[in-house]
Amino acid sequence: MNDKSIFKPLLPVLILAPAATYASTPAEFFYGIFSDAYFWLFVLVAVLLGLAYYSVKRAFDEIALHMRPDLAKKAEAEEAVADEAATEESDDSFSRWYRWFSGLKPMSKEKDLQLDHEYDGITELDNSLPPWWLYGFYVTIGFAVVYLVYFHMLGGPLSSDEYRAEMERAEADVAAYFERMGGMVDETNVTIVEDDKRLANGAKIYQANCVACHAADGGGGVGPNLTDEYWIHGNTINDVFKVIKYGVIEKGMTPWRNQLSATDMQDVASYVLTLVGTEPANPKEPQGEKM
Ligand code: HEC
Repeated sequence: MNDKSIFKPLLPVLILAPAATYASTPAEFFYGIFSDAYFWLFVLVAVLLGLAYYSVKRAFDEIALHMRPDLAKKAEAEEAVADEAATEESDDSFSRWYRWFSGLKPMSKEKDLQLDHEYDGITELDNSLPPWWLYGFYVTIGFAVVYLVYFHMLGGPLSSDEYRAEMERAEADVAAYFERMGGMVDETNVTIVEDDKRLANGAKIYQANCVACHAADGGGGVGPNLTDEYWIHGNTINDVFKVIKYGVIEKGMTPWRNQLSATDMQDVASYVLTLVGTEPANPKEPQGEKM
């Protein structure tokens, strides 16, 4: 058998294996593939599969010859001739390496391998494990040790850690997004926020800036009562946001647009609306219209 035939089964496997893992665009496929560790892992697996295929096929060929003694004799004669030619010709380093790697012994050496027991005419050959398999096995053992030590003893990142890190990164991205989009919130598109963190932020801003005129519980003072159903400027989130942003300077309500960011004004406006219906200690009399 020609040793070069090893490449025939290998080729399609080599081509198909990585393709199956890259169901993305063709451009990404071609540019991204060689920098990906998985690609090289697949190449390695494909090579090992190809070698395994080749070895198994060879074993089957030999079995087939055993079952047809007439063909076997012919093949043996041919092989003897080929062997002779091959010993000179195929002694290049690859052939030698491959013979070692596959652990195959020529048919002519079979007598040496035969064990001296026999059951109903069935005998056994004392073949050693093929090196490609054996060393592959050693590699997995080595890999397991490295994996165990790195991930479970030296604290390498486990999947759960990677997951957490990814979630943190995503949260930071979302925060950065809101930071960017925050500037775009205005009285025409503002919405009520229901997120606890943002309402807490609204409460903090209220306590820091608004209690002097509206009281800590929203009951009112210089400014109107924010807990009742009466509003001078309207009770929608857009109305409330607008009053906070531009103020009502002639009546004593400060404009906040230069001191608070758009998202902060959104937060405090949403917080103000949560005060509606609560019962303040000293409610100021209603102002404006009932809504
Ligand atoms: C210096 C006092 C003062 C401060 C500080 C102040 N306000 Fe006012 N606020 C007023 C006055 C006075 C009015 C009534 C304006 C009017 O009569 O048109 C008012 C009105 C409002 C209204 C409209 C109420 C309605 O009935 O339509 C809202 C909402 C409001 N303030 C929220 C806030 C928030 C939130 C803060 C803090 C970020 C704040 N105010 C800080 C004095 C103040």
